[in-house]
Amino acid sequence: MNFFDELVIPASNNHIMLLKYMLTISLLLFIPYISMMMGATFISTHFGKKGKAESNKIYLRFAKDIIEKLTITKSAELALGTIPALSIFFAYAQLLYTAKTITMGMLALSVLLFIISFVFIYKYRNTFKLEGIMNAFKSISGKNALETDNENAKEIKEFEEKNLSTNSVSGSVGKWVLLTAAYIFAGSMALASSPDKWANVGNILQVIFSWQTLFSFGALLSLAGIITGGAIMFYFFSWDGGLKDMTEEYAALVKNTAGKIALGSGILFPLMLLISYAYLPLQSQSPALFFYTVVVMIVFLIAGNFLYSMFKNSDTSSASAVFLLVFVLVMFNIIKDQVAFGNAISDNVKEITKISAEEHKLIKSKTIETTGIDVESIFNQKCSACHKFDQKVVGPPYNDVVGKYNGDANKLAEFIFNPQKIDPAYPPMPNQGLKKKEANAMAQWLINKVTKK
Ligand code: HEC
Repeated sequence: MNFFDELVIPASNNHIMLLKYMLTISLLLFIPYISMMMGATFISTHFGKKGKAESNKIYLRFAKDIIEKLTITKSAELALGTIPALSIFFAYAQLLYTAKTITMGMLALSVLLFIISFVFIYKYRNTFKLEGIMNAFKSISGKNALETDNENAKEIKEFEEKNLSTNSVSGSVGKWVLLTAAYIFAGSMALASSPDKWANVGNILQVIFSWQTLFSFGALLSLAGIITGGAIMFYFFSWDGGLKDMTEEYAALVKNTAGKIALGSGILFPLMLLISYAYLPLQSQSPALFFYTVVVMIVFLIAGNFLYSMFKNSDTSSASAVFLLVFVLVMFNIIKDQVAFGNAISDNVKEITKISAEEHKLIKSKTIETTGIDVESIFNQKCSACHKFDQKVVGPPYNDVVGKYNGDANKLAEFIFNPQKIDPAYPPMPNQGLKKKEANAMAQWLINKVTKK
């Protein structure tokens, strides 16, 4: 039994449509976001290290700018990272309800790792802000003041050193945790679309050491590279008029890095696309999937062309259009993956909607049975020997005793189901052995009769 099934209510047909839309939209936010996070942390830590080793100011500035631009703002973490990650998780949990696979456990692990990595990466980003503040402070107070005032100078030095070590630790922890999260995420997505493997893949190591995971991670990375390249061009040269006070040397470094990443990943992308298609079981393939794979290929060629000419001619004016095209590429790629996933789980979905329909029927049938009880004949067989409405027989007249229940049928049903000693003037009432449903109906019937009078 899958642990996550306990948390899930089986979805109806309409609900499943809604889940699929929610999943696609969440992925459309999440994939570009984690792509930019991966690209930004890798480039930033790389140039940060290189810049420190060679005391190269341009590298150091790039390390700072790229992490600031590509992680957008602190609140983006929630809107584009954590919330979509959780929605993706819950949508999968519903769609894979009753499916016997470890996908959900893996996905839970990757979501957790993503959230941890976000914390470290924003911490890393913050160290650059602090450094900037420190530098501004030093230039305001002047070199002399720091040299003469020993106490302050020492404190500032200590603070700077601490900030520097937080910077390198949080940067590299964030980077590797993020990468691990993305790897496991790619593995669980691939597994979700391969029902033929569900029965055989029983532990996480089998997923980690599998060619399919490796190739779907490759596909994710190459997409991430294209997104990062496009995003760098967009945020440095187009968004909000581009970055201010860029020297020519700096702009060249930015363009060169973005170009290398985008085009290097671009070359890998079609290869990964084909390999991951080939890895899908027949069950997950369909004409629609083939169609969307072709569409992805075409959009890729168009976007790739634009991207290439932008870098080749160093023409940044089309950066926004190219970035938009990259989003279209991501979108079709997600739709394609969702079509494969939809094919993979079609049997499962049939089962879920069947369970959901049965549960609905059950709820309905309960009410029908209750109303179908012939209360009057039960009364004649089991009660009338001792009770009348207006006269004392063996038991008290109903008109005297039912009123005190104030219309609370549940409470009265409890007594009829299991009578307790009440009035010392009467002997105890023997249990008449009514079923719960019959006692409920009887209670309601008595209340209706007595209050109508
Ligand atoms: C063998 C006789 C006998 C039969 C049969 C019997 N009752 Fe009673 N009933 C009594 C007696 C005696 C009392 C009084 C018990 C007391 O006050 O402790 C009583 C009390 C009650 C009361 C009042 C409870 C209260 O809170 O004061 C209700 C309501 C009632 N019976 C309903 C039923 C219904 C419904 C049936 C048929 C399913 C039924 N009885 C069958 C003897 C009987």
